[in-house]
Amino acid sequence: MAQRPQGHVIRRARPEDASQVVALMGSVYREGRYFVGDGPPPAVSLSRRIAADDPEYAFYAVAEVAAAEAPVTASAPVADADADRRVGGWLELHRLQPRRMRHVAMLTVAVAPEWRRRGLGRALLRRGYVWASEVGVAKISLNVRAGNVAAIALYLDEGFVEEGRERDQVRTDDGSYEDNLILARWG
Ligand SMILES: CC(C)(COP(=O)(O)OP(=O)(O)OC[C@H]1O[C@@H](n2cnc3c(N)ncnc32)[C@H](O)[C@@H]1OP(=O)(O)O)[C@@H](O)C(=O)NCCC(=O)NCCS
Repeated sequence: MAQRPQGHVIRRARPEDASQVVALMGSVYREGRYFVGDGPPPAVSLSRRIAADDPEYAFYAVAEVAAAEAPVTASAPVADADADRRVGGWLELHRLQPRRMRHVAMLTVAVAPEWRRRGLGRALLRRGYVWASEVGVAKISLNVRAGNVAAIALYLDEGFVEEGRERDQVRTDDGSYEDNLILARWG
């Protein structure tokens, strides 16, 4: 079993985390199997959003890990020589704006490939539930590609249920199509 990181901290993101978060998201986009967008936002845009978004409507969190615990893999980014902490995971929640849908927030979560299966994804989700309850969000909703076995296993284990399936919604890298699932969790 993978070793659990000893020193990880789940905390609110800070604007200066943006470049590491964008690097993390870039590595997930390069995997090609999980996200559906065309790539991460520019770090400067994300930094501004973290600094300026209304905390009642947006929540950004990172899993900060100890660089010294990083497994040595070909895909692992090289740590800054003077940085002993780095961003190993990311979560964002965006509450819907219309009055009739403010009880709902949309979730995105990602853990860097080399830090997976060490509890960071679950810990990020659980921090997200705390924010949701603080601001009065009752339902967390998300989209996940039907082939994303790891994410679906995590969400079902955390009490999310399937609310819908969009057939052949996503074009895959090999030119075929994949369903999109809509999952949600109340409370
Ligand atoms: C989905 C993701 C965030 C999970 O993060 P993680 O830190 O690896 O997950 P955790 O270690 O907290 O795992 C918690 C549970 O999820 C399930 N799980 C996680 N990865 C799994 C896998 N590869 N296969 C089966 N179950 C898995 C297990 O039940 C696990 O509990 P266990 O380790 O005690 O068995 C991570 O795989 C990831 O970033 N994937 C790419 C981006 C992505 O898919 N984001 C979600 C888009 S909707």
